[in-house]
Amino acid sequence: MPPIKHTPLRILPLAADHIPDLMIMEQEAYPDPWTHGMFRQEIENGAAYFYVATLRNRIIGYGGFWLLLDEAHVTKITVSRLYRRHGIGARLMRYLLRRAKILGASSMRLEVRESNEPARHLYEQLGFEDAGIRRGYYTKTGESAVVMMKRI
Ligand SMILES: CC(C)(COP(=O)(O)OP(=O)(O)OC[C@H]1O[C@@H](n2cnc3c(N)ncnc32)[C@H](O)[C@@H]1OP(=O)(O)O)[C@@H](O)C(=O)NCCC(=O)NCCS
Repeated sequence: MPPIKHTPLRILPLAADHIPDLMIMEQEAYPDPWTHGMFRQEIENGAAYFYVATLRNRIIGYGGFWLLLDEAHVTKITVSRLYRRHGIGARLMRYLLRRAKILGASSMRLEVRESNEPARHLYEQLGFEDAGIRRGYYTKTGESAVVMMKRI
């Protein structure tokens, strides 16, 4: 089988029957995981664009953004633990950037936990820059968020 980084990803809009798989990955990845209802809202909210990434018919990542006027605000990006460090997160983020641009966004913005080195490196590698800090942004852990922005 070819290495993961040379295998095409299939990226699809989120559908209700994807949610159970997403919740497993979500609980592995975050101290404050999204609920079923929160994923459901990403399908129902007209400003939300949310996608799953599949590799060989298995969901291995997901992510999305809200389009607020001409700014895309990333709501989430997650790669299944078993598939990290194979370039999937970068491919999914590049897809979100392309989609946002096609939909008319001129910038993309996100918040990331101050301690989340993997994600901060990923965003820096894609050209995002620090644009501020929000103290105590994550209510469950009290951790601060770094705000990052990129013009697209
Ligand atoms: C952040 C996350 C999406 C990255 O996904 P990934 O598929 O492993 O990332 P990639 O393999 O595409 O890595 C791209 C770049 O990100 C950085 N990176 C990724 N994981 C890293 C790690 N553990 N340590 C340091 N840098 C890391 C590197 O710069 C990497 O480039 P390189 O491989 O050329 O060094 C993944 O770690 C994840 O799902 N984490 C849990 C959920 C989360 O925190 N999401 C972000 C919320 S803001």
